[in-house]
Amino acid sequence: RKPVSLPRLHDMRTRGEKITMLTAYDATFAAVADAAGVDCLLVGDSLGMVCQGLSSTVGVTLDTMRYHTESVVRGLQRVQGTTWVIADLPFGSYHESRELALRSASVLMQAGAHMVKLEGGGWTTETVRFLVERGIPVCAHLGLTPQTVHALGGYRVQGRGDAASERLRTEALALQDAGAAMLVLEMVPATLSAQLTHELTRCATIGIGAGKGTAGQVLVMHDMLGINLGKNPKFVRNFMTGQDSVRAAMAAFVAAVKDGSFPDDSLHAW
Ligand code: KIV
Ligand code: NA
Repeated sequence: RKPVSLPRLHDMRTRGEKITMLTAYDATFAAVADAAGVDCLLVGDSLGMVCQGLSSTVGVTLDTMRYHTESVVRGLQRVQGTTWVIADLPFGSYHESRELALRSASVLMQAGAHMVKLEGGGWTTETVRFLVERGIPVCAHLGLTPQTVHALGGYRVQGRGDAASERLRTEALALQDAGAAMLVLEMVPATLSAQLTHELTRCATIGIGAGKGTAGQVLVMHDMLGINLGKNPKFVRNFMTGQDSVRAAMAAFVAAVKDGSFPDDSLHAW
């Protein structure tokens, strides 16, 4: 397989081939996901919950993100992996100034990431532009943004109702104009994410709990393997069911996203 690149991802989006993404936090699982044909791996700050046992992503530091990004990248190098690697900028590492965001993003890029992800809209637009102008591909993240869970009042659906959906739409278009090549939409109504996917022609939407109308889908690896410590979010499917290996489960995820059978309509009630 040829390495997944930004032009390839853009081409997939244009042709309507669904983009597959899973989280990865270590070398072995990254290599397994690569062998299963996953297009993109996200070194998500969900590792705070999954690996560190934290109750939210707020406690994750840049140094921890660097450590896990290096581990994932080394795992891919071992198997001559072709997967596109995105690393999350953690809480507090991009808020203070565009310059701090650039310094933090540089740490993750030098750890081997191909792209960084940051949460939120509005004030982040100028930060995204600053990074993209300096050659750092950026993935944005709107809807339920876990780093702001305390301000949002819990892990709940976002962008519901006319005012909220219009604000999210405005933020998404501004992020695309700033150069964001990807946009994660987390727990937003399926109608809204489908509309945005249609409108954003230069930015690939990646949904999680956002219906089937996005350009791609992402899941937390532990959720789709059925080993989540808490209660599984409603939009998750356990891909281990009927499979005899982690690699087969990941391949089943890839197949289900590519053929449109995941997510199905019953997997989101908003
Ligand atoms: O950290 C993470 O795993 C994420 C995904 C849920 C999109 O940001
Ligand atoms: Na994240």
